[in-house]
Amino acid sequence: MPESPMRKLVPFAEIAIKAGKKIYHLNIGQPDIETPELALEAIHNFNDKVVEYSHSAGFESYRKGLANYYKNLGISINYDDLIVTTGGSEALLFALNSCLDNGDEIIIPEPFYANYNGFSTSAGVTVKPIATSIDDGFSLPKISEFEKLITPKTKAILICNPGNPTGYLYSKQELETLRDIVIKHNVFLISDEVYREFAYDGYDCHSVLTLEGLEQHAIVIDSTSKRYSMCGVRVGCIVSKNKEVITTSMKFAQARLSPPTLGQIAGEAALKTDASYFEEVSAEYVSRRDVLVEGLNKIEGVICPKPKGAFYAIAQLPVDDAEKFSQWLLEDFDLNGETVMLAPAAGFYSTPNKGKNQVRIAYVLNKESLQKAINCLEEALKVYPRRL
Ligand SMILES: Cc1ncc(COP(=O)(O)O)c(C=O)c1O
Repeated sequence: MPESPMRKLVPFAEIAIKAGKKIYHLNIGQPDIETPELALEAIHNFNDKVVEYSHSAGFESYRKGLANYYKNLGISINYDDLIVTTGGSEALLFALNSCLDNGDEIIIPEPFYANYNGFSTSAGVTVKPIATSIDDGFSLPKISEFEKLITPKTKAILICNPGNPTGYLYSKQELETLRDIVIKHNVFLISDEVYREFAYDGYDCHSVLTLEGLEQHAIVIDSTSKRYSMCGVRVGCIVSKNKEVITTSMKFAQARLSPPTLGQIAGEAALKTDASYFEEVSAEYVSRRDVLVEGLNKIEGVICPKPKGAFYAIAQLPVDDAEKFSQWLLEDFDLNGETVMLAPAAGFYSTPNKGKNQVRIAYVLNKESLQKAINCLEEALKVYPRRL
């Protein structure tokens, strides 16, 4: 199993904190945004005498509520087209285990959410990365590049939209291109849309479930973690109109008994969250993104494309090894007792040696902290002994 690049430097951070350093955590997608009051109240008001298991597919009332949430997005699905899972993480595991056999291949544009490596390993699936580049903001490669990678073992293409770690948002046209490929080669299109609500600058996030003709091929991975800033409730879902996919996923769901009961209670209540919550949260992320991208691009030797969604950015740094640099930031650097924690980007690639001079930055802190973190990074790069 590969280590998580978001968490592998935690032991160094713990030592730094014990030594009295303050750390700005830009390494992990844990937002400081408040969870909607409705969801917190629902947990406070829980007063059953026993915290019971739920149905393996999740409470029926919650599944019906989720079907209605999708209906409001223009996606017509029934409540039995989805299974509530323990976060989007378990939905990913169900999708891989249900659609691919040991030794099968999955094509994923890289860099990608690092845990796709771990989930693929545990499902016995081989990742075939398709390169995207920081130079053109990580846009999707030509159809011919995908076709070069397709073999008889290819069973699925996996995308993340909007993307973690790049913040890339797929256009309708790009999704239609992907549709044509998956239909032509009869493979699944798994779309991780856990950041759906966070699309900026007037762009929309188009779900693969809205693409005509893709009903039997499309699988959506979803989660309440980022949407309502409630990562700890551990509730997500897998959605597909393909009955065989849902029937097979249901076997995995039964094996793990049920998704979290209290988490579902929070999830169901959160469905009533007012649209104004998302407007406010998105506006906050946009202003943080602007502070980050502008601040980083001002630093000599740093390149950071402007993301159109989610709350991450990939930055290229003037260092040969971003992991060593990130460790050095924790072990050997501080600016007035403060430093910054980054996620080395190599772990978001499966091609060896790619992304070695890149880091992923999560803009999950308020603008004041973000600015301080950028200042730390700028000063650190001035004194880093192995700066290029
Ligand atoms: C792209 C993506 N997919 C899935 C997940 C899994 O999240 P969770 O299991 O909390 O829903 C994450 C978490 O950061 C993510 O960034």
